[in-house]
Amino acid sequence: MTHDYYKLPNACIIGAQYGDEGKAKIVDAIASKYDIIARYQGGSNAGHTVVVNDTKYIFHQIPSAALHPGKTVVIGNGCVVDAIALAKEVRQLQGLGFDFKLVLSGKAHLVRPYHKEIDGKDTKIGTTKQGIGPAYADKVNRKGVRVKDYLALPFGADNTTPEENEALHFLEQFVVEDVGEVIAQLTNSGKKLLAEGAQGTMLDIDHGDYPFVTSSSPTIGGVFTGLGIGPKQIDDIIGVFKPYVTRVGEGEVPYPMGTEEDALLRELGGEYGATTGRPRRCSYLDIKALRYACRVNGFTGLALTKIDVFAEFTQRMAKDGQLVGYVDKNGYKTLIKPFSLKDGHLGEDAYRFIWQLQREIGVPIKYVSTGADRSAFAQLL
Ligand code: IMP
Ligand code: MG
Repeated sequence: MTHDYYKLPNACIIGAQYGDEGKAKIVDAIASKYDIIARYQGGSNAGHTVVVNDTKYIFHQIPSAALHPGKTVVIGNGCVVDAIALAKEVRQLQGLGFDFKLVLSGKAHLVRPYHKEIDGKDTKIGTTKQGIGPAYADKVNRKGVRVKDYLALPFGADNTTPEENEALHFLEQFVVEDVGEVIAQLTNSGKKLLAEGAQGTMLDIDHGDYPFVTSSSPTIGGVFTGLGIGPKQIDDIIGVFKPYVTRVGEGEVPYPMGTEEDALLRELGGEYGATTGRPRRCSYLDIKALRYACRVNGFTGLALTKIDVFAEFTQRMAKDGQLVGYVDKNGYKTLIKPFSLKDGHLGEDAYRFIWQLQREIGVPIKYVSTGADRSAFAQLL
């Protein structure tokens, strides 16, 4: 692990569960220290929520650090791009006055309108219907259309709609052939990279709960193929997790909660899909699965989010005479004492819970998010 206080290492942020761990919150909280923030996989299936001074921003394709002035935000070749939705997202943020430099890989594949039409029709896995699977399928099948291929076509060719054409020609100004080259040039001159994952380890096409997975590689390997950088260029690999588990779409959750607990936690945590609005199903934290995510990704540190939500949950359940907890690495339920935050800050009982989790997982918890707002954040190491 790199602990050089004088040198800020390049880092990546990866979901350790089924997505919706609060990655965007962590990215936003630490982004000011980095210069380049890069998405390496996924597309508009992601819904990354950032709250600043009570205003909520939901990012789908642009890295969630775009709210910080002057950052280079990259959409890597490993992403699939919905041009119409991306153009809209860029214009919205620009309209609000945010000043970021977008770099879009010419090698990223396009999500075409027909991909969205067929998404979810032949499977029952509960996709976000953003055309992600069909676009990646065409890529692997060597039938896909990359951003740069599209731009080389005569206007209106390849059955394009006027809307797609307009969006792509607006986006053309941001396109580069190779984002890896841009990142190499910037990092060679001392700039720092933060790679931002979408979805999570348990939704990974290889390492997740197949077939109830997404079609990309949110895990560590995706960072390198999705940006065109080497493995030694990332020093810190941060896994993000909640003290409970949620899942949207089909597939089992590890330790489902009872109906009332499930409903209470969903309300307290606002656990509804940021892209689809679907209710997320809640489960007790599964330490064994987290240890698996640590192994698959080689996490050097962890970020724990929504501890405020879980604290409130422990209190509310205690009022009904019930203790809640997590499921340890051997599959046994471990009950914990109800705890609360002190004026939004971590007190002794919250720290005790954090140390307990850290001991069970075996990887240091470096960051803790204590609320939705940017300011509700603690760096422990
Ligand atoms: P797809 O990525 O739309 O193909 O959906 C595949 C599976 O991944 C479904 O279970 C989705 O609900 C889930 N999924 C995709 N993106 C996200 C996300 O950003 N957060 C949580 N679940 C997601
Ligand atoms: Mg999300």
